[in-house]
Amino acid sequence: MNTIDFSASRVARTALALIVLAAIAMTSPALSANLNAPAAGDAAKGKALYQACAACHSIDENEIGPKHRGVVGRRAGSVGDYNYSSALKASGITWNDATLDRWLVNPSAFVPGTKMFFKIDDAQARADLIAYLKEQR
Ligand code: HEC
Repeated sequence: MNTIDFSASRVARTALALIVLAAIAMTSPALSANLNAPAAGDAAKGKALYQACAACHSIDENEIGPKHRGVVGRRAGSVGDYNYSSALKASGITWNDATLDRWLVNPSAFVPGTKMFFKIDDAQARADLIAYLKEQR
């Protein structure tokens, strides 16, 4: 029963995250127009985009996903009181611009067996999100 409830809630949260992301994309034509030419990340735009991540994450609390404060520069799977997949814990990844970008393109392709199922297709949006995460020291 619990397993079923958890999946339903995860599906609902993913759907919510996608709706938020679509809403942001519609109100920011520059974001969708720039698919293949990422400029430097814009942390202010990243903060707005983070609303989609906030369906599962927060900066200072573990939720469905681990808290994000200090994520840039830390080892993947290293928040002590969060219950990671063994795949992410064993990945040996350190989070930086390159690894976060690969992660957000497709977590399951980068770390098979991860329990994060959420992708960001827009390269500029990924750069903006990473710029925002860098500020959350
Ligand atoms: C539907 C829920 C969900 C959404 C939406 C989501 N995540 Fe996650 N995220 C997770 C889960 C669950 C994990 C833990 C993965 C594991 O243990 O394999 C995770 C892990 C992570 C990690 C690894 C952190 C660490 O401590 O190693 C990063 C980085 C991350 N997410 C970034 C993001 C960003 C940025 C967004 C928004 C673009 C986002 N996530 C959206 C569920 C989500």
